[in-house]
Amino acid sequence: MKQTKIAHLLTSPELVGQQVCVKGWVRTRRGNKQVQFIALNDGSTIKNVQIVVNTERIDADTLKDITTGSCLCATGKLVESMGQGQSVEIQCESIEIYGLCPSDFPMQKKGQTFEYMRKHAHMRLRTNTFGAVMRIRHHMAMAIHTYFHEHGFYYFHTPLITASDCEGAGNMFQVTTKNLYDLKKDDQGRITYNDDFFGQQTSLTVSGQLEGELGATALGAIYTFGPTFRAENSNTPRHLAEFWMIEPEVAFLDQEGLMDLEEDFIKHCVRWALDHCNDDLEFLNKMIDNTLLERLEGVLKDSFVRLTYTQGIEILQQAIANGTKFEFPCNWGDDLASEHERFLVEEHFKKPVIMTDYPSKIKAFYMKQNAATPQGGSTGYQGVVAPEPTMQGTDVLFPQIGEIIGGSVREESYDKLLAEIERRNIPMKDMWWYLDTRKYGTCPHAGFGLGFERLILFVTGMANIRDVIPFPRTPGNCEF
Ligand code: 4AD
Ligand code: MG
Repeated sequence: MKQTKIAHLLTSPELVGQQVCVKGWVRTRRGNKQVQFIALNDGSTIKNVQIVVNTERIDADTLKDITTGSCLCATGKLVESMGQGQSVEIQCESIEIYGLCPSDFPMQKKGQTFEYMRKHAHMRLRTNTFGAVMRIRHHMAMAIHTYFHEHGFYYFHTPLITASDCEGAGNMFQVTTKNLYDLKKDDQGRITYNDDFFGQQTSLTVSGQLEGELGATALGAIYTFGPTFRAENSNTPRHLAEFWMIEPEVAFLDQEGLMDLEEDFIKHCVRWALDHCNDDLEFLNKMIDNTLLERLEGVLKDSFVRLTYTQGIEILQQAIANGTKFEFPCNWGDDLASEHERFLVEEHFKKPVIMTDYPSKIKAFYMKQNAATPQGGSTGYQGVVAPEPTMQGTDVLFPQIGEIIGGSVREESYDKLLAEIERRNIPMKDMWWYLDTRKYGTCPHAGFGLGFERLILFVTGMANIRDVIPFPRTPGNCEF
């Protein structure tokens, strides 16, 4: 008989009274000598279907072996349920066992810690929580492709192996086919890569942006959606060494337009989750974080706050003067820590914040430079004056998360960009093709990067980024 997915079966009243066949993994079995109840889940929904087994029909020895985690196929009639907690159930006529599950099954017990489950990440997908998170992850990917497709962006594939460091932070994983014990060096002791696979030093990409700009300045509007890699030694609940990033890049987009796009896009994703992931969100709201649904609705309600970094620092300094304690300093020029970002979002404004015009010294070389003042400062968004040079870096800060989007208007002037590259001693030979975008028909343009797992963290209410990707890669951990 053809399998019916449980999600379909539970939402199709016309199936009541019919013979059905379900296949899945046993969550629980309970009952007495006469009748046994098996709760079966097939991953199509957080909900289980109840299979009612009359022990006269199915022999007791077969039933006894069916423990949590076993995999089976059950056929029978779908009927309206007398019991509480489910609308329909299956009156079982036959069971075929695909695989029994020995008692050392690591997801046997309920209420295991997330720490424990990370050590058994290959099996944690079979739990309710991880099932819910993975289904939501899928729906968010669909939300993203739908949004960009419907707004005229092309899905653009940028390389994963690259010879340039987009963010200039030096956090790259090298790619080589060379035997590390047999590295050739030049007379100054530097490794030569002439005889390596690509004939030069290569790494895994930290961002597809630079190539994305090539796409946008030809196709008008593109987005990437792929894995990126960062060898930052950050053991935090918000950092992964391998994470997925979405990077739209748009020709003729200015700072205000960039902020509008960031806000509209992220609201679309949150709305999509509420529209498509109802059962899973309700489960997470009940089991993981009972402010989740309220927080998701909250993001949709108001406009995001828009302000400059300089204004943000003023608010933080005022808070310190009024007695707020932070672990890290936040003087003008400091990179904001997530505690500062969260203070602004969660305590001060109580809504998401788009912050723009960051100090040049803490941002990447490609960002648009704000107009200089005679005093050596700069004038930026809505005329706000900063004491030093600033760039049109435009990040989105979110409750619980801190930075969820990092973006900017790009410097389109060839001369200014070249001067910045030289000031930072970025090796020019890697950058010639990028500079060609500014040399040949340059145009104003802007874009951003959304960390996919940070979005999933927000939408699921999970606390640790390691629990929103199937197989996390973090310092010291590359199992599975
Ligand atoms: O702010 P970032 O470094 O910006 C860029 O990479 C730009 N090239 C994007 C662009 O303008 N096209 O990273 C963008 C986002 C961050 O806001 C954060 O959400 C996420 O990527 N992110 C990480 N997520 C998980 N683990 C990490 N180690 C992350 N580093 C950044
Ligand atoms: Mg950033």
